[in-house]
Amino acid sequence: MAKFNLRKAEPKDVPDILRLIKELAKYEKMEDQVILTEKGYSVIGFAMYYFTYDPWIGKLLYLEDFYVMKEYRGFGIGSEILKTLSDTAVKNRCSCMHFLVAESNKKSIDFYMRRGASDLSLQEGWRLFRINREGLLKMSAEE
Ligand SMILES: CC(C)(COP(=O)(O)OP(=O)(O)OC[C@H]1O[C@@H](n2cnc3c(N)ncnc32)[C@H](O)[C@@H]1OP(=O)(O)O)[C@@H](O)C(=O)NCCC(=O)NCCS
Repeated sequence: MAKFNLRKAEPKDVPDILRLIKELAKYEKMEDQVILTEKGYSVIGFAMYYFTYDPWIGKLLYLEDFYVMKEYRGFGIGSEILKTLSDTAVKNRCSCMHFLVAESNKKSIDFYMRRGASDLSLQEGWRLFRINREGLLKMSAEE
């Protein structure tokens, strides 16, 4: 006999449950009457970060990416993610969190400023630079 595990459904089971609902409807020859679709997502936002070091201030948390799906914004999820990141930073002995924001992204700039962020480009005059791969190859090939 096949082994099975009987358990309560969890949010992550939604796609499988919908699949089974459709299978049952097919068995009953009424598949076209299932109008239910999967609206909920199990993952609706994410933050990507890593630790790095600054010779002046020491260890810091660098927030590389931060995103919440449009229809889930404004419910405090982003704030909760930032709180978790702050916790992670403090527990890992970081002195601060750094991140880049596009100048055109006014909503996010306001979001961060309301949470105590300072604009280092404005206050300290930092500019972001890049040397692309061609530049790297050229320099690396120099005698
Ligand atoms: C920045 C971002 C992650 C915040 O996530 P969030 O879940 O909306 O965050 P919160 O709900 O905790 O707070 C959003 C703030 O905007 C306000 N807000 C209200 N409705 C909103 C909506 N529909 N969309 C966005 N913000 C809204 C909230 O009231 C809240 O204001 P507050 O600062 O006074 O608390 C999210 O807006 C996002 O993914 N933006 C697009 C991508 C982006 O800009 N990422 C950051 C790149 S640096």
